[in-house]
Amino acid sequence: MAAAADEQLLLHLKLAFLALEPPACVLTLARKAGGGSVTPHVQNFILENCIGTNVGKSPNYAYVETILKKVIVEAELSSDIVIDEIYEELGQCMLSKTNNSSLDMASKIYKDISFLSPTYDNVSSNPVSLVAQLSCSTNMLEGDTGCCLWPSSLFLSEFILSFPELFSKKSCFELGSGVGLVGVCLNYIGASKVILTDGDVSTLANMKANMEMNSLYIKDSQLVIESNNKVECKYLSWEEASDKDLWGCQRDIVLGADIIYNPSCVPHLVRVLSMLLREDNEQRTSVKAATSKETSDEVSEKGATGGRIAYMATVIRNVDTFSCFAKAAADAKLSIVNITSTVAPSSFLPYMLSYDRSSVQLLEITLLS
Ligand SMILES: C[S@@+](CC[C@H](N)C(=O)[O-])C[C@H]1O[C@@H](n2cnc3c(N)ncnc32)[C@H](O)[C@@H]1O
Repeated sequence: MAAAADEQLLLHLKLAFLALEPPACVLTLARKAGGGSVTPHVQNFILENCIGTNVGKSPNYAYVETILKKVIVEAELSSDIVIDEIYEELGQCMLSKTNNSSLDMASKIYKDISFLSPTYDNVSSNPVSLVAQLSCSTNMLEGDTGCCLWPSSLFLSEFILSFPELFSKKSCFELGSGVGLVGVCLNYIGASKVILTDGDVSTLANMKANMEMNSLYIKDSQLVIESNNKVECKYLSWEEASDKDLWGCQRDIVLGADIIYNPSCVPHLVRVLSMLLREDNEQRTSVKAATSKETSDEVSEKGATGGRIAYMATVIRNVDTFSCFAKAAADAKLSIVNITSTVAPSSFLPYMLSYDRSSVQLLEITLLS
């Protein structure tokens, strides 16, 4: 039993490292795995299973260097032995960093976001249910904030993985998709179509590269049959979007993560949402048929009784901006129900200490008839 718990702690440490969690969070997990200090056993684990696993990927020398330095300080402080290999790795890392200074200057980093099965019982052979590989930016503002991974999309991903029956065999359309994590999850649970959109050109390019990295997008879809693309990535600016842009875009479910933050975009966002939620005769589909009884009890009744529906995960940073959204939505006859406490998605990211799930709200939005 104790061995299984130790194994789990080490697994969390490894996944946090691969997700490029802040070094302080990785060290917290390393200390936990060592029973209070970063023991030689844990140091070895970091070398072999964290840094070692990353070989072959575009290495982030600055990140590895910071982790190794922190390990040394931490071990010395607690009078633990620092194994020689840690110093050797640090030396190698500093050398590589100097030799590849242009690579390290780049703001792109690669994160492996691993979703752990919540029913993981320490016996199952593969506790990780899904890994999304994502190129992100170290600069929060790059790509109009879309090249960074935000907590709302982690929450929305956990919601999708917790209630796959709501999304499987459905056409899903996301607004402001950023790095595209939600698309990877929707594809994983078997959505029939996934359309990711963004109004920022550099974000869209990064999103397409991410879908390619996860084998979900084929470059140059004009040459290859469109249906080969499991996930479609589309330019869609809320200011410019017209009904015509949305013609032919199948969508049973509309999604969005952290897209309610700019008051000047709110009226455009609400207009696009209304267009997307409006039923058009040729694509009328019912969510009702495929929604299981169990889920319909948990998610609010409206979500399970048919018609188009939107799920938006959001962090309310500015109450005025959110009120502005709520008012514009009410004027457009959109109903907003906060379902955060009723659905409570399972925790698939227990190792991600930097992810504050409690800051995220989940909204269910429908068009009132
Ligand atoms: C805070 S980021 C969230 C990204 C991603 N959904 C996540 O949660 O990680 C906001 C996203 O909305 C997009 N966005 C902002 N304003 C937009 C607009 N007017 N039209 C289309 N996309 C927009 C940005 O480009 C960016 O990708």
